[in-house]
Amino acid sequence: MKRTKIIDVLNRGQIGESIIVKGWVRSFRNNRFIQMNDGSTIKNLQAVVDFENLDEEVLRKITTGAALSLSGKLVESQGAGQAVELQVETIEVLGTAHPDDVQKTVMQPKKHSLEFLREQAHLRFRTNTFGAVFRIRHAVAYAIHKYFNDRGYYYIHTPIITGSDAEGAGEMFRVSTMDPMNPPKNEDGSINYKEDFFGKPVNLTVSGHVEADLAATALGQVYTFGPTFRAENSNTSRHLAEFWMIEPEVAFNDLRDNMDLTEDFLKYICQYVMENCADDLQFLNDREAQEQKQKPQNERNELTLIERLQFVVNNEFKRLTYTEAIDTLLNSSHYKKKKFKFEVKWGIDLQSEHERYLVEKEFKCPVILSDYPAEIKAFYMRQNDDQKTVAAMDVLFPGIGEIVGGSQREERLDILKEKCKAFHIPEEELWWYMDTRKFGTVPHAGFGLGFERMIMFVTGMTNIRDVIPFPRTPLNAEF
Ligand code: 4AD
Ligand code: MG
Repeated sequence: MKRTKIIDVLNRGQIGESIIVKGWVRSFRNNRFIQMNDGSTIKNLQAVVDFENLDEEVLRKITTGAALSLSGKLVESQGAGQAVELQVETIEVLGTAHPDDVQKTVMQPKKHSLEFLREQAHLRFRTNTFGAVFRIRHAVAYAIHKYFNDRGYYYIHTPIITGSDAEGAGEMFRVSTMDPMNPPKNEDGSINYKEDFFGKPVNLTVSGHVEADLAATALGQVYTFGPTFRAENSNTSRHLAEFWMIEPEVAFNDLRDNMDLTEDFLKYICQYVMENCADDLQFLNDREAQEQKQKPQNERNELTLIERLQFVVNNEFKRLTYTEAIDTLLNSSHYKKKKFKFEVKWGIDLQSEHERYLVEKEFKCPVILSDYPAEIKAFYMRQNDDQKTVAAMDVLFPGIGEIVGGSQREERLDILKEKCKAFHIPEEELWWYMDTRKFGTVPHAGFGLGFERMIMFVTGMTNIRDVIPFPRTPLNAEF
């Protein structure tokens, strides 16, 4: 007989049906009630064993964390909350878990701090919280592909190893096969990259959009969804050294179209999670609500997790320009009471305290800021007629800050060349990017969504390390 997944047992198991389930013991009470989980749902199946029929040897092995195969009949459940339970006939112990080992790990049946769980990333999948987070992470990845596929976009795989610094930020991980102790040298003593694997310096990609641009100006509408790497030494709750990004790139779109696409896309993801991840979402919602009770009144969230998702779906994002945002900040009582740590004036790169003020205090909704000063944004963003600003946009989310960065691209070759000069970007290195501006150049636009930041928003997790299975951050690449 094939095993039945617990989600199917709970959803459509028939009284009297004989089944086999396989999974891990979450708890074992009174030598009689086993709570089994197999990862297919956050819910456990209650299995009832008849003590008289049980071998002593087997009984000792039914411990939290052990893997079992159970066969038996479904009967009406005595307890509340589920319709059926398993009346166990045979037990096969597939893998034991020694109680002494369990004592030291996340599998001990008690509440652990998220920090403690992070040190056991290999086992935290076994907890309710992380089971829920990673099932939702999967659902969101699927929803993203579905969103674009349903609308005629093509999924493009852009390279992970690249010679270009797409964002011009210079925070890259070098990829090399040279012996670090003894690299080949030029006569002047500098390193000779011609002898390296690719014959030139290369790095892990910080973004796929420069390559996606080439595909968009032929296939029309494309998107990437891949890993990106940034060697920024930011040890914050919102930064990873390795994270995933979704980057649509669309020919014939201008900045307004780009905003409309972003807003529709983010709403779709929130709606998808509410419709398809109800049990996991409810669990995380209640978990957060419990945690909020420990906090002083003025630090609590105004809305619950589910209410926040509903809010995003049902309300228009506030759109304003960078210049309007600076004016808003300068006119705020927060500014007048000197509560901002960093300076506020036209031309600054907005700090997270400024972004959070706009989103959480001033507008209390997702915000799309646009038309930033050219100096603080990347070279490829389209110059506006005022010559001072570019057609850039950032989407700011409550509790998260920047979740999306994007722009209309500079499609005019002469201006792009000037921008390269101004930003000290060697044009020769990007000859292939420049070329697309020579062959039927068109207005086009795109954006990048930080996948983990989106997962933070839809799960309510407040540290980005808790929404990726194996976080990479400065000084941390265990597992
Ligand atoms: O704003 P960024 O740097 O934009 C780009 O890379 C553009 N090439 C996107 C495009 O136009 N196609 O990054 C985009 C998003 C950010 O808004 C943020 O959500 C996320 O990527 N992000 C990070 N997420 C986690 N850890 C980091 N270190 C991140 N850096 C950026
Ligand atoms: Mg950005």
